[in-house]
Amino acid sequence: TLALVAFGLAATAAKADPKGCDDGEMVIKFSHVVAATGHPKGDAATLFAKRVNEEMDGKACMQVFANSTLFDDDKVMEALLLGDVQLAAPSLSKFEAYTLKYRLFDLPFLFESLDAVDRFTQSDAGKGMLNIMEDVGYTGLGYWSSGLKQFSADKPLNVPSDAAGLKFRIQTSDVAEAMIEAMGASAQKLAFKEVYGALQTGVVDGQENTWSNIYTQKFFEVQDGVTETNHQLLAYLLVTSTEWLNGLDPEMRDQFVKIADEVTQEANANVAAIEQKNRQNIIDAGGTIRELTPDQRKKWVETMKPVWDQFKGDIGQDLIDAAVASNS
Ligand code: LMR
Repeated sequence: TLALVAFGLAATAAKADPKGCDDGEMVIKFSHVVAATGHPKGDAATLFAKRVNEEMDGKACMQVFANSTLFDDDKVMEALLLGDVQLAAPSLSKFEAYTLKYRLFDLPFLFESLDAVDRFTQSDAGKGMLNIMEDVGYTGLGYWSSGLKQFSADKPLNVPSDAAGLKFRIQTSDVAEAMIEAMGASAQKLAFKEVYGALQTGVVDGQENTWSNIYTQKFFEVQDGVTETNHQLLAYLLVTSTEWLNGLDPEMRDQFVKIADEVTQEANANVAAIEQKNRQNIIDAGGTIRELTPDQRKKWVETMKPVWDQFKGDIGQDLIDAAVASNS
C-alpha cells in the first residue's frame, strides 16, 4: 500500500494539472451530460480522450467532463465560443437556436435503423450538414449515434391515445413538442440533468429517450414502464469552435481531425450493442418493457408522421428525401 501511495503521489506531482495534463500540452476540454461509461457517448468520449492522450502526447491533452459536471447543453454552446471548452456533443435536437436544418434528425419514424442513420451521415447530403453552423462559429466534426428513442410514463402506454393529458419532458426541440401534442399530451422542455427529479416528483409524467439514457439515469425506476416505440433518433453532433479548430497548427489539426473521424466510426459501430445491453439491463433490474403489436405500432406512426409537414420548409424536401432514401 505504501508503495502504491508513494507512486500515486509521484504521478500526481509530475502532472501540473489535476486531470493529468503536462506543462506545454494544449488542453482540450470535452464537456457532456451523460454517464461516463456504459453509454454510447460516454464511451466514445473516453475513447477519443485515450487516443488523443496516447497519440498526441506532449502536444495535446484531452480532459472529459461527463454527467453535466461542467456545463449543460445550453451553456456548453456559449462555453465553446468563449474557449472554456473545446468539444461538446449535444443532441442534434438542441441546435434550434443556430440552425433549423437539424430538425431533419428529429422527424418521427424517419430512420428505420441505426444502419440507415450511418448511411445518411456518411452521404454527401449528411456530410454537407456538418458545416452549416460555421457562420455562427461552430464546426461539426462528426455525427455520433446514440440509439432510437422509447417512451416511458407513469402509466402503461400501448397506443398514442394512452398518453392523452399526460405531460412529457422533451429536449429543446419544437419537433418533439409537435409530436407530443399530436398524441394529445403536453410537452415541457427541461435540461437532461433535471429529468430524473422531474419524473420522481411528478412535475412531468413521462419522457422519451434511448435505452442507454433510460438505464444509466435510472428513469425506469420512477416510471410505470417503457414502451418500445423506436419512434425517433437520438444522435449527437461532435462540435467544436470553428475559430479554435482553424487556429490549430495544420499538422496538429490534421492529426486531431483524423482521430476524431476514426473514433466516430468506431463509436457508431458500437452503439447497437450498447443499446441492447442497456435494454437488457433494464429488464434485469426489474423494469417493465412493453413491445408493440404491428397494429399498435401503426397507430404511433399514423399519429406522429403528420408533423413532418410542419417542418419540411425549415429542412428542405431534398434533405428529407436523401434521409428517407438511406432506409433502403
Ligand atoms: C437528452 O437531453 O435527453 C439527451 O440529449 C441527453 C443526451 O445527451 O443523450
